[in-house]
Amino acid sequence: MASTLKFIALLISSFAIIQMAMADPDIISDFIRPTPNATVDANYFTFTGMRVLIGGAPPTTFTVLKATMAEFPALFGQSVSYAVLQFPSGTVNPPHTHPRSAELLFLIDGTLEVGFVDTKNNLFNQTLQAGDMFVFPKGLVHYQYNADSQNSALAISAFGSASAGTVSIPATLFTTNIDDNVLALSFKTDVGTIEKLKSGLASQP
Ligand SMILES: *[C@@H]1O[C@H](CO)[C@@H](O)[C@H](O)[C@H]1NC(C)=O
Ligand SMILES: *[C@@H]1O[C@H](CO)[C@@H](O)[C@H](O)[C@H]1NC(C)=O
Repeated sequence: MASTLKFIALLISSFAIIQMAMADPDIISDFIRPTPNATVDANYFTFTGMRVLIGGAPPTTFTVLKATMAEFPALFGQSVSYAVLQFPSGTVNPPHTHPRSAELLFLIDGTLEVGFVDTKNNLFNQTLQAGDMFVFPKGLVHYQYNADSQNSALAISAFGSASAGTVSIPATLFTTNIDDNVLALSFKTDVGTIEKLKSGLASQP
């Protein structure tokens, strides 16, 4: 009985390790249809959600347009996705991580301050010029900031997952009802400071 339990535990833990080491799971068909026998044509493999960028008015706040599996179902099983990042002058994409993918950012226009922190708490930061690429390694906390007071910046990011996921550090910590005392102790501050941080984020659009 005990050995059976041990075997099951081993099986479960080795499966968990395999799951962690994998990128998106491989599929055993050319592509995934919306329903098993659905007829699809080229339109299924076409995403037109970025057309709004062409000739559209520039945004006044930091804006992300995504083409992931959620917006573009044909990406299911293909391990790729895109995001288009628009930074009006002085705007930031706050520190965040993508749990399932590295991010390869290509700066098309403007300049951009970028950085990530590794698991030893080393910061790697850079000022990018239009035409530059920067890779944010998988799972590490990173940010982007357009420090230019006059010009906007435009970047395209590629991901090695159809659903890279985003964990935004400010939102994760301060908009999810984690107990104030837990946060105050964690940040070595008082509850009032935590409440101030929470209300600042709550009042954002
Ligand atoms: C899909 O098509 C196959 C082959 O024609 C058929 O055997 C199967 O039952 C169909 N599945 C569904 C969910 O309709
Ligand atoms: C990296 O960050 C430091 C501290 O903010 C700053 O002084 C430095 O100029 C940055 N380096 C680059 C290349 O942007």
